[in-house]
Amino acid sequence: MSVREFRVALVGCGRIARNHFEAIAGLDGMALSAVCDTVEERARTAGEQWGVPWFTSYDEMLKQSECDIVVVATPSGLHPAHGIKAAQAGKHVVCEKPMAISLSSADALVQACDDAGVQLFVVKQNRLNPAIQLVRRAIDRGRFGRIYMANATVRWARPQEYYDQAPWRGTWEFDGGAFMNQASHYVDLIQWLVGPVESIMARTATMARRIEAEDSGAAILKFRNGAIGVLEVTMLTFPRNLEGSITLIGETGTVKIGGTAVNKVEHWQFASYDDDDKLIDQASTTPPNVYGFGHAGYYRNVLAVLRGEAAPDTDGRSGRKSLELILGIYESAKTGHEVPLPLRSKM
Ligand SMILES: NC(=O)c1ccc[n+]([C@@H]2O[C@H](COP(=O)([O-])OP(=O)(O)OC[C@H]3O[C@@H](n4cnc5c(N)ncnc54)[C@H](O)[C@@H]3O)[C@@H](O)[C@H]2O)c1
Repeated sequence: MSVREFRVALVGCGRIARNHFEAIAGLDGMALSAVCDTVEERARTAGEQWGVPWFTSYDEMLKQSECDIVVVATPSGLHPAHGIKAAQAGKHVVCEKPMAISLSSADALVQACDDAGVQLFVVKQNRLNPAIQLVRRAIDRGRFGRIYMANATVRWARPQEYYDQAPWRGTWEFDGGAFMNQASHYVDLIQWLVGPVESIMARTATMARRIEAEDSGAAILKFRNGAIGVLEVTMLTFPRNLEGSITLIGETGTVKIGGTAVNKVEHWQFASYDDDDKLIDQASTTPPNVYGFGHAGYYRNVLAVLRGEAAPDTDGRSGRKSLELILGIYESAKTGHEVPLPLRSKM
């Protein structure tokens, strides 16, 4: 019996689309079947490069192309509408992060996928970085003991030209700022590793970029397990990306995963030995950019889930958790108050 191949259509042929195209092309069992972008040249270029039909209308692509999965790689504020249409057409949805920029629209997307009986995958490829996987295993094996402090630091550089590349960047309606877009993987990682957050105090600012949302900010988290967390995020680092790191300090372990995008084990120390300690050198990677190599691994999981062989790495409900945390950070920064989670109102 031949193994079934899943056909994938992608909407939004911008910067991140290439990571998807390459990941799909590298995987036996998946094939790109159509692409769409409202900018004709982008749709045509991608279609010609990958040898698939291209569309400038998403509705037309859904109607005309035969596919099992739709990848949503459009501006963040459009993810729910595009994902819901795909679900209603009976397609599984692979949604770029963040899955939405409001909780109500994130919930509508989850509901639409549930109603249609299709899978919703939210791309959180940094969870798959080898160094982060090692940390996760160390936590699962109890090697840290009680975790006291957790830190995520994102000191990156995004010049004004980056924001000027597309009108949606840095807007409240379609994007959000440093926490919602660039640092959202780090917000996701800290809660995925340490656990649910009980409350948040935060401050944000737009100090140097002409955008609506924040270019920098800091947040203090109180985790339900008693740990304290600190997030420090800026897109103003001179002159280039300096650090994208996670540090955990526990009773019997201290670990820092750094590099520019949580790609290097910078400190690894535990009270007791584990065979994983031998893997730390090979867990450090040198990705070409801060997006990393994770999309390929992400799609391997998508394929395994659709074949009934695995549970999703990040489904819609898991993707919603970091969104709620980011919205809590925004709420605290806006009001000057400590914000408890879960949020009372669906922003
Ligand atoms: N996982 C990651 O590490 C990662 C990295 C970068 C971006 N992203 C996410 O991917 C999404 C896209 O980011 P990007 O940097 O590629 O942006 P981009 O602006 O380069 O690409 C978005 C594309 O969507 C197209 N588009 C807009 N509206 C459309 C519509 N209605 N129908 C069809 N196409 C439409 C635009 O023309 C553009 O080509 C964002 O949500 C972003 O947060 C994720």
